[in-house]
Amino acid sequence: TWTPDAFVETTVAELKEKLGDDKVILGLSGGVDSSVAAVLLHKAIGPNLHCIFVNNGLLRKNEFSGVLKQYEGMGLNVKGVDASARFLDELAGESDPEKKRKIIGRVFVEVFDDESKLVDGATWLAQGTIYPDVIESVSATGGPSATIKSHHNVGGLPDYMKLKVVEPLKMLFKDEVRRVGASMGLDKELLGRHPFPGPGLAIRILGDITPEKVSILQEVDAIFIDGLKSNGLYDSVWQAGAMLLPVNSVGVMGDERTYEKCVALRAVESTDGMTADWVNLPYEFLQKTSNDIINKVPGVNRVVYDISSKPPATIEWE
Ligand code: XMP
Repeated sequence: TWTPDAFVETTVAELKEKLGDDKVILGLSGGVDSSVAAVLLHKAIGPNLHCIFVNNGLLRKNEFSGVLKQYEGMGLNVKGVDASARFLDELAGESDPEKKRKIIGRVFVEVFDDESKLVDGATWLAQGTIYPDVIESVSATGGPSATIKSHHNVGGLPDYMKLKVVEPLKMLFKDEVRRVGASMGLDKELLGRHPFPGPGLAIRILGDITPEKVSILQEVDAIFIDGLKSNGLYDSVWQAGAMLLPVNSVGVMGDERTYEKCVALRAVESTDGMTADWVNLPYEFLQKTSNDIINKVPGVNRVVYDISSKPPATIEWE
């Protein structure tokens, strides 16, 4: 039978054998998968693992600095690269969801490639790909040039990078990844983090992206997620977040009418992201969250809750 301890033991041995004294580069996202992959590799090859954490400017509020600090505490060799301005410049004016994903994927590879070149003699690229990523990428179009998750580099690494790919979690489901992480002593909060899409808030800002929209959505998302945590709801939800809709609606503040933005909150239950159901969050919680958002985030005057299942809806709105 499969156990996390046995998986760690055999995988670390296999990685040692496969990688020897080679240098490996890994892109950390702050999420569970890449973090567990990093710790496994670190166990196998220690300082020959070079991690890069790119801020694409589309992360959650305070996520870049918070996660970087957490990684440093874990003894990983991590370089944080703030490329926010570059991503946001390249995304300016683009509203098409797939084009946004493509731009983010391309810029990510460019930034990552520049950083990789600084790691002298690296020959391997490690990725935190898990089994559902492999299936979704292949089933989308019947080939690795998937449209569902075009930001995932599953099989899609550009030739010029000339790095061999190592993906130690490729056969695991998310719950197994979490158990493997726990057996290696990873922080509970890190292991319990909800999945977050590679293109980040870009696909939760419907339409074109501006720095102002990113900061509005970061504030809204933080109120929602912090509220889930402080009310003991976070762990019973598989994934949650907020969408900034391309819709303004009329509101009233004091004696004035407003014409401001609308956000949708989404919280789902799922086991692998392939199907999902909306979560029946308590009305009192939704009521308080909505009030907090509207009172604290300038520019937002309306909050709605998404009660759609996947299928036929998807988890993200783009
Ligand atoms: P959907 O919206 O397809 O999402 O129901 C299923 C899961 O995948 C995540 N997702 C993405 N992850 N790049 C990613 O890395 C993407 O382009 C992307 N699109 C969706 C989504 O957050 C959910 O967990």
